[in-house]
Amino acid sequence: MKETISVGLLGLGTVGSGVIEILEDHKESIQHKTGCNVNIKTVLVNNLSKPRNLQNNETKLTDQYTDITQDPEIDVVVEVMGGIDHTLKILMEAIENGKHIVTANKDLVAQYGAELLEATQRNKCDLFYEASVAGGIPILRAILDGLSSDRIRKMMGIVNGTTNYILTKMSKEGVDFDTVLKEAQDLGFAEADPTADVDGLDAARKMTILSILGFSMPINLEDVQIKGIRGLSLSDINYAKQLGYSVKLIGVADHSENGASISVEPTLLPLDHPLSSVNDEYNAVYVYGDAVGETMFYGPGAGKFPTATAVVSDLIAVIKSLRLGTSGMAYVQPQFPKKMKTKNDTITKKYLRLHVHDQPGMLMELTKIFAQYDISFDQIIQRKADAEDERELMMITHQVSEADFERAYEELGKLSSIRSVDSVFRVEGSE
Ligand code: NDP
Ligand code: HSE
Repeated sequence: MKETISVGLLGLGTVGSGVIEILEDHKESIQHKTGCNVNIKTVLVNNLSKPRNLQNNETKLTDQYTDITQDPEIDVVVEVMGGIDHTLKILMEAIENGKHIVTANKDLVAQYGAELLEATQRNKCDLFYEASVAGGIPILRAILDGLSSDRIRKMMGIVNGTTNYILTKMSKEGVDFDTVLKEAQDLGFAEADPTADVDGLDAARKMTILSILGFSMPINLEDVQIKGIRGLSLSDINYAKQLGYSVKLIGVADHSENGASISVEPTLLPLDHPLSSVNDEYNAVYVYGDAVGETMFYGPGAGKFPTATAVVSDLIAVIKSLRLGTSGMAYVQPQFPKKMKTKNDTITKKYLRLHVHDQPGMLMELTKIFAQYDISFDQIIQRKADAEDERELMMITHQVSEADFERAYEELGKLSSIRSVDSVFRVEGSE
């Protein structure tokens, strides 16, 4: 076993610079835990002329990835540069050259995790990606190790810091969506192009990774139903509060005998649900296992040091498995074939906000449609709308299948008394 492990670092931005600082600050304890020194031999960047603060003068800066992938002295490649296709090509080349991989790249892992896993196992290399889901929260290890004795039935996550920050500010300070999105970008939580945050894709990628590991099934990003928070209004947040709920962007992954269902969408949660008190850019993942019952993991989902902590922990895991001679054996292939629930088997409560024509019998017409599909209501609020002849209705149903709800919703559109259906959200945590 070597005394010094050589690392090639791909990327020296927010996370990459955090990795270098943590490796330097925690040098002795890492040496104690692994029995090795870690040397960042080469760092790949885009722009060589940017000023950098490298701790070790011997670290080489390059803009040629082959300086890392083809260097026989480099044992581990730590990828913190982002990107999908080009990055996959670099990592595949590194793996074929026998290098172990640590990555924080959820976009890549959600899309090409299976290919990366196959290549690393074939080459007896390790692949770790703890930082890709919920930054500093060690949720993947909790699922794969801490809860490995259990059967996970459900996971619900606030796994995107940007949208949680936006919803918290809208709810607590009444700030409108666009103003608070700009704030999240300035604070560095949001992606450079915040579309993936706001439209739910970033959270969907993280839920894909969680579901593959939690349910041991080859889930794809395409299996996730995705709806982001764009267009969510302050009115919905305020009405939800009146009904006793918060509004959060929640990833729900559910697994039963009928299969799995995975979604990311704005969701109403009871105000006393533990996920309701997860605010600002914080993340949390609620995990329900048959034997353990309810558990929840909470912490910073993004940022330089929380993310770099997860990356360096993965690096320590690689070194430990090198010492034990178990490289490439850490994550096994999914155990079960993929089976997704149909819409008939996907059962949730729903929140609706509608504008209706204020006429006698209107409510009866409406509830009659729902009754046809066996949908009853848990709560209904009616208030005056801006127009004199209109009323605004906020309703929460009891449990209903997606299939029945879709049919009822289609028929609602045909009712002349309905002026507009303004919002439809999922409701969780109160059944
Ligand atoms: P940054 O944009 O801050 O840094 C990216 C780094 O990679 C820069 O040093 C950049 O070079 C380099 N880079 C980018 N593309 C290339 C390329 N094609 N060739 C060579 N170098 C390149 O990103 P972050 O540090 O924020 O994120 C890194 C990864 O970690 C991403 O996958 C992200 O999704 C993930 N992540 C980030 C979190 C966070 O809080 N920031 C949280 C969890 C995961 P240069 O410096 O020259 O521009
Ligand atoms: N943009 C991401 C977020 C960064 O807001 O959660 C961490 O993955």
